[in-house]
Amino acid sequence: MKRYVLALFVALCTWSVAHAQPAGSGAPVPPPPVQGADQSMNAGGSASPTAAPAAGSAATPGAGSPSTTKPGLAWYDELAAKPKDVSTNFWLPKSVNKVADESDHMFIACVALSAFFFLAIAIAVVYFVWKYRGMSMVRKIIPSPAHNDALEITWTVIPTIICVFLFYFGWRAYIEVVTPPQKAVEINVLAWRWAWEFKHENGVTDNNLHVPIGEPVRLVMTSKDVLHSFYIPVMRVKQDLVPRRYTYAWFEATKPGTYQMYCAEYCGTNHSQMKPAVVVHQAGMTTTWDDQNGHHSVVDRGYENYLNDKAAESTNMPPVDLGKMLYEKKGCNACHTIDGTPRVGPTWAQKDWGKQIQMSDGKTVTMDENYVRESILSPLAKARPGYPPSMPSFEGQLKEKELAGLIAYIKSLKQ
Ligand code: CUA
Repeated sequence: MKRYVLALFVALCTWSVAHAQPAGSGAPVPPPPVQGADQSMNAGGSASPTAAPAAGSAATPGAGSPSTTKPGLAWYDELAAKPKDVSTNFWLPKSVNKVADESDHMFIACVALSAFFFLAIAIAVVYFVWKYRGMSMVRKIIPSPAHNDALEITWTVIPTIICVFLFYFGWRAYIEVVTPPQKAVEINVLAWRWAWEFKHENGVTDNNLHVPIGEPVRLVMTSKDVLHSFYIPVMRVKQDLVPRRYTYAWFEATKPGTYQMYCAEYCGTNHSQMKPAVVVHQAGMTTTWDDQNGHHSVVDRGYENYLNDKAAESTNMPPVDLGKMLYEKKGCNACHTIDGTPRVGPTWAQKDWGKQIQMSDGKTVTMDENYVRESILSPLAKARPGYPPSMPSFEGQLKEKELAGLIAYIKSLKQ
């Protein structure tokens, strides 16, 4: 009876190990694309004609220009909002980084080695359980050899050789991953709870990452508050962002398209919403797709035009429209709604403009331009009751004009 229980136990162990998730193996397959998923934070926001006339007119959605939820999006924002490109090779999403192959090979080599030894050991266990079944341990104790040169040399030399190979290839891949080429497009990455900001060499900032194809891109990254992690599965790039210091990553995109990026370090309530799009640009390429809003066709005008059009975007915008755009682009929508419901911070739809409002220390303050300006630049100076003091400062991150835009937008939301 005992041996059947033992055999069953071994079989169960074998099965459960074989079906376990490969822990820490890196890239999970991204979830299927959900249209507008990136914008799900501003559920109350609905339509937002964010683009400047200058930029927006460049490429309007084709095929009858359906009534999308985002009318008048600039061409580059439409590319960012399109469903993410997901194609897998069973294990991982297909890599689109020039230097991702070596880490993929390492991953496959480690999985194959583990699988080989796991199978070899499991088969041996099952075989010995079967071979020595019914043998009374009391009746016949076989003395085990105290020493066996051949055996010991074998189990020392073979694993050593395997380890040396793993180390050599792992080290080579690591050096490649941490050493960007001398000439690279540099992009500054700033993360905070709960948004990303990508700042390009000409000063343009965006909450989606736009990069050129076929050029090395070097990221200089830091965080305003807690640990975040920059993670693009298709690039095989994952790097922590640490407050008060800089960390680096680089990649060279090989295929134009729109991919998913994630925050891979748990950072609080809206951690799962820190998932911007990564747009790899190739000039002159037409991208076409269908979603619930109809048929879209956008001409990708390339990274250079992205930088120029994006820079021109805010110049001629009325302050309220600029504020509305920044509400999304600066990630205000992660914490503030515009439909009257409180989130992490107070809603922007208010009845209090021009009136006295209560602070948590009992004092009252007039809700006006000065109060809003101070709350953006030094959020902790005055605290509203019932909200955690968790907002990061935007000092130095907004131009005077942008501040005015945000103030005008909040003012316009008075009900
Ligand atoms: Cu940022 Cu998780």
